[in-house]
Amino acid sequence: MKSMMLLASAALTAAQICSLPSTYRWTSSGVLAQPQSGWVSLKDFTTVPYQGKHLVYATTNSGSAWGSMAFGLVDNFTDLGKAPQLRMNQATVAPSLFYFAPKNIWVLAYQWGGPAFSYKTATDPTNPNGWSNGQTLFSGSISSSSTGPIDQALIADDTTMYLFFCGDNGRIYRSSMPLNNFPGSFGSNYQTIMTDSTNNLFEAVQVYTVQGPTKQYLMIVEAIGANGRYFRSFTATSLGGSWTPQAASEQRPFAGKANSGATWTNDISHGELIRVSADQTMTIDPCNLQLLYQGRSPNSGGDYGKLPYRPGLLTLQR
Ligand SMILES: *[C@@H]1O[C@H](CO)[C@@H](O)[C@H](O)[C@H]1NC(C)=O
Repeated sequence: MKSMMLLASAALTAAQICSLPSTYRWTSSGVLAQPQSGWVSLKDFTTVPYQGKHLVYATTNSGSAWGSMAFGLVDNFTDLGKAPQLRMNQATVAPSLFYFAPKNIWVLAYQWGGPAFSYKTATDPTNPNGWSNGQTLFSGSISSSSTGPIDQALIADDTTMYLFFCGDNGRIYRSSMPLNNFPGSFGSNYQTIMTDSTNNLFEAVQVYTVQGPTKQYLMIVEAIGANGRYFRSFTATSLGGSWTPQAASEQRPFAGKANSGATWTNDISHGELIRVSADQTMTIDPCNLQLLYQGRSPNSGGDYGKLPYRPGLLTLQR
């Protein structure tokens, strides 16, 4: 009887269902890792669960050039500071890493590889220099943007692969293709799906499937606030549909100085929510929300490329 009750309670725990909070409140780690290898910053983290550990890729800056790296696998993000920092021979800036289950292949998407966005594939995602040559992911151009298309986010439902991206210009764009055509190019077509001030919809868009009994998707977008960078959130019931603001002000953000709990940084900037699986659905568990983000000393300033961004981890308080 006792063991049956234990089993029943374990099953209840496994089936725990949460919804996204309407007000977010986090605790933060300190700085998780310092850049090695002559880099001045570690940025734009993408992370997947891999064989029970965490695999993290990032953008680097050498003080004069953008590049990219992977950390050696870690059991816990608190071990990032001890993990090897593996330089990539070809830069994959602002990377997005996921496993494309329909074709049993890993995909690393990135910017500034020639086309607006590019991707590489691999069978072993842990070898940062084992990826294929870059292929075109998206070749479109946008107006009213000094950067052009920036910060891709890929996510699929059962039939369609979507590409969301920014332009540092107050707009969010979306392109799509049949799931069967991926990996491949989205071509140059897109729709402008959101418009606001430059500061309110700046960059670093990420889109996730929210695990749970009803279909829900979460978008986070990095904004520029009076007190640093912060994330605004939006929800939707379909990836091809429209987005409703959720925690979208600097005073009550998805994550920012107002609610991060971080003392070492005002910026809560470009990163990734921790996913429950590595696949193309980009699924997150609202019962266990964590954000691997980039932050920097409030005393730093000057040239954007040299800002001393470091990884940190937010954990949602329930
Ligand atoms: C990771 O390490 C932190 C700090 O030691 C600890 O609180 C946390 O429970 C660990 N997480 C896991 C999943 O083991």
